[in-house]
Amino acid sequence: MSEPVRIAVLPGDGIGPETTAEAVRVLQAVSGASLPLVFETAPVGGAGYDADGDPLPAHTLAVCERSAAILFGSVGAPRYDTLPRASRPEQGLLRLRKHFDLFANLRPAIVYPELAGASTLKPEVVAGLDILIVRELTSDIYFGQPRGVRVNEAGEREGFDTMRYTEGEIRRIAVTAFEAAAKRQRRVCSVDKANVLETTQFWRDVVTDVHKQFPAVELSHMYVDNAAMQLVRAPKQFDVIVTGNMFGDILSDEASMLTGSIGMLPSASLNAERFGLYEPIHGSAPDIAGKGVANPLATILSAAMLLRHSLDQQAAAARIEAAVRRVLAQGLRTADIAAPGARTVGTREMGDAVLAALATG
Ligand code: IPM
Ligand code: MG
Repeated sequence: MSEPVRIAVLPGDGIGPETTAEAVRVLQAVSGASLPLVFETAPVGGAGYDADGDPLPAHTLAVCERSAAILFGSVGAPRYDTLPRASRPEQGLLRLRKHFDLFANLRPAIVYPELAGASTLKPEVVAGLDILIVRELTSDIYFGQPRGVRVNEAGEREGFDTMRYTEGEIRRIAVTAFEAAAKRQRRVCSVDKANVLETTQFWRDVVTDVHKQFPAVELSHMYVDNAAMQLVRAPKQFDVIVTGNMFGDILSDEASMLTGSIGMLPSASLNAERFGLYEPIHGSAPDIAGKGVANPLATILSAAMLLRHSLDQQAAAARIEAAVRRVLAQGLRTADIAAPGARTVGTREMGDAVLAALATG
């Protein structure tokens, strides 16, 4: 029997505990003698603050340190919004990204054939959509110093943040994007605001230079405002989109909605050693938390990405993805992806259906 592989499970807040519970059940189902998975759960976000006064308790970080990968739920709830910034739930996530240098955020936006009608866009605009957003995750205006609120020379208060990117930071995310594209349709669109921002002109220059190592992949550039428009006008023109932290935050939410349900989309945040944090794109959804109605598929698909990217278990990942496709084909829907008036299932029932599909698949 192989050595047990430890997975850190950080359910977080809101619907996170419900959706990660289903993903853990699915991982347990693919665990076995050749892939013995063990799970260690720890609080993060608001739950970390409640347990330990810190959105990323030292114990939670230690659990992550001794694991092969992190399965993450979601963080945030209105009752934490008035805390000082350092204590807010989001800081738990931002600090994990920085601590493990998880610079490469992969956010696929796929439209499953059965769900083309769930999009707010016309089915023909989104049917067959398969794009990958590669978002830089550890730099940019999210982390740039200096930042703060100060009194300026005129005696007026002003807020300020700093957008910055080093050449190395741009190179490594560009390489990630070109390598990902090489396995797909071999097209990368780099998104920037080079017509206005120095940092992103530099971004464009560096991406153009890295592209010389990937002649088989086509590179185009697009300003972020145009990219936001093109994503709703004709999203299928894109294969891989690579962009900085802030633009990627915005465009990935937009792309997720093309698919009709943010409840379906997984993500991976990887470092250079392929250690990663895997989380659904959706947030903590406080309005439906604890009701057993959340869609667990994004977290289950995140678990599949975990197997693929951090554990190199391609077959197990593909089995889970196939099981999800099968339950969709069977017509099972949680409320977020159901046609109006159609019968819906809850979080646990959806998890049960994926387990049943795994067992028979
Ligand atoms: C995301 C989220 C985070 C971000 C928040 C929770 C800090 O919106 O993962 O996209 O802005 O990166
Ligand atoms: Mg976001």
